[in-house]
Amino acid sequence: MKKLLSLLSTLSLAALTAFVAACQSDSQNDSLDSQKVVKNKLKTVYLSDNKKVHQQVEALLAQMTLEEKIGQMSQFTSDGDITGPAVDKSIEPYLEKGLIGSVFNAVSTEGVRKLQEKSLAKSRLKIPVLFGYDVIHGFKTITPVPLAESCSWDLSAIKDSAAVAARETAASGINWTFAPMVDIARDPRWGRITEGAGEDVWLGCKIAEARVKGFQGDSISDIGNRFKILACAKHFAAYGAAEAGRDYNIADMSDRRLREVYLPPFEAAKKAGVATFMTSFNEINGVPATANKYLVTDILRDEWGFGGFVVTDYTAINEMLAHGNVSDGKDAAEQAANAGIDMDMTGGLFLKHLAKSVEEGNVSVEQIDNAVRRILEVKFLLGLFEDPYKYIDKDIEKKVILSKENIETARNIAKRSIVLLKNDKNIFPIKDDKEITVTLIGPFVKDKVNLNGSWSAQGNPKDCVSLWEGLQKRYTNTKVKFIYAKGCDITKPIKNGFENALATAKKADVILVAIGEPALWSGEATSKVDITIPQVQRKLLAKLKEAKKPMGAILMNGRPLVLAWEDKNLDAIMETWFLGTTAGDAIADVVSGDYNPSGRLTATFPRAVGQIPIYYAQKRTGRPLPADKKMGGYRIMCSDYIDCQNTPLYPFGYGLSYTDFKVSDIKIDREKMTRDSEVTVSADVANKGKRDGEVVVQLYVRDVVGSVTRPLKELKNFKKIKLFAGQTAKVTFVITAADLEFLDKNMKKSVEEGDFIAFIGLSSDDEENSVKFKFIK
Ligand code: NOJ
Repeated sequence: MKKLLSLLSTLSLAALTAFVAACQSDSQNDSLDSQKVVKNKLKTVYLSDNKKVHQQVEALLAQMTLEEKIGQMSQFTSDGDITGPAVDKSIEPYLEKGLIGSVFNAVSTEGVRKLQEKSLAKSRLKIPVLFGYDVIHGFKTITPVPLAESCSWDLSAIKDSAAVAARETAASGINWTFAPMVDIARDPRWGRITEGAGEDVWLGCKIAEARVKGFQGDSISDIGNRFKILACAKHFAAYGAAEAGRDYNIADMSDRRLREVYLPPFEAAKKAGVATFMTSFNEINGVPATANKYLVTDILRDEWGFGGFVVTDYTAINEMLAHGNVSDGKDAAEQAANAGIDMDMTGGLFLKHLAKSVEEGNVSVEQIDNAVRRILEVKFLLGLFEDPYKYIDKDIEKKVILSKENIETARNIAKRSIVLLKNDKNIFPIKDDKEITVTLIGPFVKDKVNLNGSWSAQGNPKDCVSLWEGLQKRYTNTKVKFIYAKGCDITKPIKNGFENALATAKKADVILVAIGEPALWSGEATSKVDITIPQVQRKLLAKLKEAKKPMGAILMNGRPLVLAWEDKNLDAIMETWFLGTTAGDAIADVVSGDYNPSGRLTATFPRAVGQIPIYYAQKRTGRPLPADKKMGGYRIMCSDYIDCQNTPLYPFGYGLSYTDFKVSDIKIDREKMTRDSEVTVSADVANKGKRDGEVVVQLYVRDVVGSVTRPLKELKNFKKIKLFAGQTAKVTFVITAADLEFLDKNMKKSVEEGDFIAFIGLSSDDEENSVKFKFIK
């Protein structure tokens, strides 16, 4: 059987098909896992099961020259600038010869049309080009940065947000986004934490699914719909595990950690039907992801059965020269192709070398053919062969871009993304029926430049509502009066800034400071060793304390920050991230209490940088911190710091509301479960306050003993519910064997006999309500 498996990788599709029967009978003797691999090897040539499209692809492929095939495997930038040294700078000759599979960063309907016309006019086979662009959180209507959106814990709002992005992108002639980024991130020094869904595996999987379906539709056949685009699960894999939080740095980890933490959101994206994957820049255990056959072929194709195409990250093939695992560009191209890469993003090395590599027998024709099959298939599924200009229509673009409906969807997710971290003295909400003067101070009060975050596609700051504008609009004709002083720039003082700010503060009843990090301090290549508020802003806050007035902060930033000083010195802190086009309106919704904040953190906020990486699903260690650390007055040696507490400042799952929620009375319907049964855990959740509100009720499970060590606890479900003031509801979760599965000591997915503890709470550190149960075989 093993021999057969290695043979299969070098066979053509026709030959593969001929092997089906043989494999089926032979595989009866194999384990279930290897049967799956065999089945997937036969299947992963295609993404869909659309036979008609497969036939069309085969017919076209049969007419293509090797050069044309390799052209399909190459992506060029719209201005022809191929960063790699491989080909000359002009895109046109390649377009005209049909040697370009995809164009990157072409962004106007006119531009896209022009390029498509060029590709169809003279090329022999008239294969339309695919247009790809980074639409990370909105195209023109910008929604919150992805980390912020994840804090909404609202999967349908997240899906809607991706759908808005897809609608505007498609209306502009582009059919492929390089999103969602599904990298788990547990290190806020890494600036790209802003592009993901935070630290948690389970939630990361759900959000990956929501985003893929928002972009592409609920099933692969929806890709052909007018306002859907191809999604791309990136960066495969473990990009978020960059050592020391330094972008592009190596990730070195066990297969266990890779499979338990970093891969699941990718598999969830695959299951949701994602059409493309992007490999990451980093190496994993010594092999760059872009040459990593274990990842791209063994796991992605053979284990998971992925039939879409895999693109590299930008010039990632060329970058292997710097990594030092290839001797030259040709070696790099061969290693990438043989690992299973289908498309070279703008590096030009496939185009330059692969024909020779095939001639020399270093890369098989089958490898090339399968890559081209996958690329052509999505072009057919998109409907580009029927109408290559179907997405390119100026009038439709005008109607869709920044439409009222899109703006409403953006504002809805934006207000839900806000997390209230502290609220002493009831600073928030600022009621509009009380006669008060509020001074707004800080570099972010009137700012628009930063509101769209670090990666905002075609977003224009001029379309954004600033905090100042949002509050002015909301409080028109009310008793609340706002006054303003800038105080300082984001990173430097301004003339008389502190003095003016203090004078203004003294005139007010409440001080609201709008502070944070510039948008370009998070995102790609923005790793930081200091993740506190810029010093000048901290100094401004210290100055304003002299006014001795209640003071709250409205934070704008893209990553979890170290806020120990602010937590100690301010009365309230509202985390608003970068909320995009509707930022000012959404913040006004929450500041005014029109919307009661319901966001919850999806990434831990540390007390100090030295605690990083810090995440709730940590392991226990052999010397966990005892409840009473100073047993009998002696300091005991355990897994802690001598200069900082172990706990975070604000944990995963944490966030406040203007009302008061309480969980009580946890119950379980039975104490034992098996593979075929389940347990139901429930608790009462009460709104004890005076306002209606939404709350994220979270279920965590601890596996008490495992054949390998298990995390302290893991999120297994949540429900976001609305409760009226005074209302109590029973919240119920069903726990099945699948929820308890993990990779046992033989790396097999299994559930082991033993004790489990379920917690229902309002944050990852909320352990007041727990129940025990047993799993028996
Ligand atoms: C590099 C980034 O890592 C990736 O996320 C992005 O999609 C590509 N460049 C294309 O811009």
